Amino acid sequence: MRTDTLLSLQRRPEEVIHRDELLFQVVHQSTELWLKLACQELTDSTRLIGEGSFDTAVRLLERARLGVRLATDQLEMMRRLSPWDFQTIRTVLGHGSGFESPGWAAARRATALLGEAFDRAVEERGIDLAEVYRTQPDTPVHRLAEALIGWDEGISLWRVEHCKMALRLLGEDVLGTKGIPIGVLTKLIGHQFFPRLWLVRTELTRTGPMGDAAPAAPTAPPAAPCPAAPLPEEKDRK
Ligand code: HEM
Repeated sequence: MRTDTLLSLQRRPEEVIHRDELLFQVVHQSTELWLKLACQELTDSTRLIGEGSFDTAVRLLERARLGVRLATDQLEMMRRLSPWDFQTIRTVLGHGSGFESPGWAAARRATALLGEAFDRAVEERGIDLAEVYRTQPDTPVHRLAEALIGWDEGISLWRVEHCKMALRLLGEDVLGTKGIPIGVLTKLIGHQFFPRLWLVRTELTRTGPMGDAAPAAPTAPPAAPCPAAPLPEEKDRK
């Protein structure tokens, strides 16, 4: 299993400037491993979709989804870091940025190719996705669409957790190690990899029993920041 090599990849106690570097490295390195697995499953799913094997693609996509969920759960460990201790740990990170994470860079590329393969499959077969959602929930294409939305949602949920954890450790209105404002993380949460599938939901709501039957917008609207609506008790205080 080459565990000797694996266990030699963390800085040794005599090298570290802070004992919690190990905690940081374990979370980082294991994230990369889960993403390595997820990317393999995404790449094979993309091929399987091209071959028309939708159910096998779904099985692999569910593994990828679980991989990113496990990576999300382990961010919880970062909450056991003290914000002041993290200031020391940051000094050894230099200008390295999360944007350079090989796992996440590969996941973004693999996800884009997956989306293209799905779009091609839908277009080649002349599939009306809204109709599939209304009347064919037990078909491979419905299962595939749901697996894709699960993957897209899984990335956003990782981003929510990562963003909250980063804000908790670093605070607001600060710059990351690459000089990028931390607020960028909040904006990325709303990113949709498969806008076509999110739009189907909008169409179902608009055409459903409670909807106004207005046609869905041709493209997904840009993710808007959540409006700061006053809570009822705040209104009462005015
Ligand atoms: C103490 C823990 C962490 C803190 C405080 C933190 C903080 C940040 C900050 C401030 C950024 C903004 C850009 C920059 O300056 O680099 C960022 C981006 C990013 N970080 Fe982290 N990070 C942490 C852990 C992790 C871990 C474990 C991963 C897993 C590989 C990761 C992956 C990323 C990615 C992929 C981005 C790009 C933004 C995105 O795609 O959502 N970070 N991080």
